This record gives sequence, structure tokens and C-alpha cells, in this order.
Amino acid sequence: MVEPKGLYSPIVIEHFTHPRNVGEMENPDGVGEAQNPVCGDTMRLFIKVEAGRIVDAKFLTYGCSAAIASSSITTEMIKGKTIDEALAISDEVIVEALGGLPPAKIHCSILAEKAIKAAVLDYQKKTPSPSPSPPRGEGEGEGSRK
Ligand code: FES
Repeated sequence: MVEPKGLYSPIVIEHFTHPRNVGEMENPDGVGEAQNPVCGDTMRLFIKVEAGRIVDAKFLTYGCSAAIASSSITTEMIKGKTIDEALAISDEVIVEALGGLPPAKIHCSILAEKAIKAAVLDYQKKTPSPSPSPPRGEGEGEGSRK
């Protein structure tokens, strides 16, 4: 699809023409997928997490220029962030980092926000957080003696 000239900010054009972190990740700690039901565009986000911090991120996006630029900048934004910091990245933050998006393209950044949340959720499912130690006395009955 040819999009009208001047529609996008220089940052969007830069990320669309030179997308960062494209591709599939081997052994990711979390994978999130988001799809826009209207246009059908899809983003898949892979994250690698160490000690609660996202150390690597990659994406595969089937979508428009704005979706690809949003995906690209999102992988850069979440790298080095804690899980909570990554979850705090909203589509508004992505749009601002891109230097703005035309109103009709805002939904493309929402795809990236949803993919972050889905990837983190997947990571959290695979990596159960350390459960608090059971209250004293529990699990110490007759049945637990060796
Ligand atoms: S037109 Fe659907 S994500 Fe951009």
C-alpha cells in the first residue's frame, strides 16, 4: 500500500525502513501475540528475561508501516526495563517516542502495547514467582516425616 507523503514523522520512517530487532528468538522466556481484528495486522513479540529485567526483545510483524515502526521502537524501549516498567509502556508512550502517528494509525501502536502485555503474561505463566514460605506448622505434620 502506498501511503501519502508527509504522513509519518522522520522517526516512524526511520524505524519502518530500518526496523530493529526483527526476527524470531530462540528459546524466548515470553512470547506475546496481538492482532487488530479490523485490519488483521499481527505482531509477535519475543522477550528474554534475566533477574526480572528484559535483556533482549525481537519481533515479527505482519502489518502496515506504523505497525512495523511501533514494533521496532517497542523492542528498543523494553530492553533493559524491569517487567513492571515494561508493563507501564502504553500506546501513548509509543506514539510519543515515534514523534506522533496520524489519528487513523494510533491503533497500530496499540498492537505493540498489547503484545508487550501478552509477552509478559506468557513469561509470568512460565516462570512462577517465588511463593512465600508456608506459615509455620503447615506441612510439618505426621505425613511429612521421613
Ligand atoms: S493498519 Fe492495522 S496495524 Fe496499522
